[in-house]
Amino acid sequence: MICDMLIIGGDGDLAYRKLYPALYHLDLAGCLPSCLRIVCISRSQHNVDQFRAKVREMLAKYLKNGALDNAAWQRFSARLNSYSLDATSEAELGVLSREVFTDKSRDLITYLATPPTIFATVCQSLWAVGLARENMRLVIEKPLGHDRESFLQINDSLMAIFKEQQVYRIDHYLGKETVQNLLTLRFANALFEPLWNNTYIDHVQITAAESIGAEGRWSFYDEAGALRDMVQNHLLQLLCLLAMEPPASLDPRAVHDEKLKVLRSLAPIKGRAVADNTVRGQYNTGSIEGQSVPAYTAEQGANPRSNTETFVAIKAHINNWRWAGVPFYLRTGKRMQRRYCEIVVQFKELPHAIFQEQTGQNPGNRLVIQLQPEEGIRLHLLNKVPGLDENFPLETVSLDLSLSDAFTERHVPDAYERLLFDVMRGNSTLFMRADLVEEAWIWIDDIREGWNTTKLKANPYMAGSMGPADSVALVARDGRQWQD
Ligand code: BG6
Repeated sequence: MICDMLIIGGDGDLAYRKLYPALYHLDLAGCLPSCLRIVCISRSQHNVDQFRAKVREMLAKYLKNGALDNAAWQRFSARLNSYSLDATSEAELGVLSREVFTDKSRDLITYLATPPTIFATVCQSLWAVGLARENMRLVIEKPLGHDRESFLQINDSLMAIFKEQQVYRIDHYLGKETVQNLLTLRFANALFEPLWNNTYIDHVQITAAESIGAEGRWSFYDEAGALRDMVQNHLLQLLCLLAMEPPASLDPRAVHDEKLKVLRSLAPIKGRAVADNTVRGQYNTGSIEGQSVPAYTAEQGANPRSNTETFVAIKAHINNWRWAGVPFYLRTGKRMQRRYCEIVVQFKELPHAIFQEQTGQNPGNRLVIQLQPEEGIRLHLLNKVPGLDENFPLETVSLDLSLSDAFTERHVPDAYERLLFDVMRGNSTLFMRADLVEEAWIWIDDIREGWNTTKLKANPYMAGSMGPADSVALVARDGRQWQD
């Protein structure tokens, strides 16, 4: 049973925006053990009352409905403690270990809500003061390096202290309700799995579009770019869940092993092949929802000569029996028309058309899995338009499963709620095993190297659009189009 949670970087943006709201919701739902203490440390100076008041203010700001339940808040705030100290200092952490975490039999979760550059030093200090013990679970989050080598460096420093089973690497996309529903859709329904292969599927599209720009985190973002920031983790994880073989069970090892096989089967995109299979873009001035927005290179603190991509589109192939010949088109960008994340599975044309006159072609069915803003699943089917018309007119209509309509009374948990609860339960299925992160970096590093050697430019696109024209061309060359 987990008794203590230590949040290092407890006065930071991630903690206020995601961790405290998630923990509050878990408390409200009665999911936190009554003994659980939440100990937050940061370098900022404030006493416990000031800290609790700030958490309360931030909850009001970030909770979806904004309303705090008084009884739940009383219970939750009583768990919160804060200490001003430097977690890289053994001497300062030592005081916490001796005075707060006196009972070493209490299970502990340590969340590093800090930049990865200090992971190694903090973990070393945790170990030196006796907190990094067998009954501790460590939670960390991206960016886990900027390439394979730097990831291995970070990882090695953790592995010198912890066992792999103790480390929970968060990819928050895996905590999204519809992402988990992907597993259900594929493996709990008889309908799709027999069709889930290159005999029936023409291609797959994965789009994660954002309307926000790099904004307050320009320098950080500029070091990363869309490929590292979104594709290396979120988009590749979605691709794994879509493409993997049925795991033997939901056991973490079974699921991770299958995902690893997908990553290892990704056809490398190297050297000159990057020009045909990838598109880089960077947003220019434009307007979003009627508001004009600056170009990426004109954002506050920007380097006007930056060639960092804020958009990327990739045509990927999975070299295995199931997926040979099926392109997976991935696309993500900032300052796009609207915020949405969607997976489109386009089925092949029918083998023989008896309705050719009505449809003019032979369209296949389309399954759309929507992750955000709304979560739901739509299956596009051709239907006869009701009536006596002897031409037998047809129209595409969709079978629509909206999660919020189907489960009206249910609170759809935020990704962090689900993931923190899973850490408490010791279930690592929805987390990233080290070899998955490493394998994803290998694929990404090839693309980056190809961009560097071919000096591929990030082409401008208008903010508020769906990316540069090359992205349309990438798909059009194969006789297809993006489903926007
Ligand atoms: C983060 C990226 O991992 O995901 C951000 O670093 C991005 O740049 C965010 O904005 C998107 O997450 P979500 O859940 O809003 O789609």
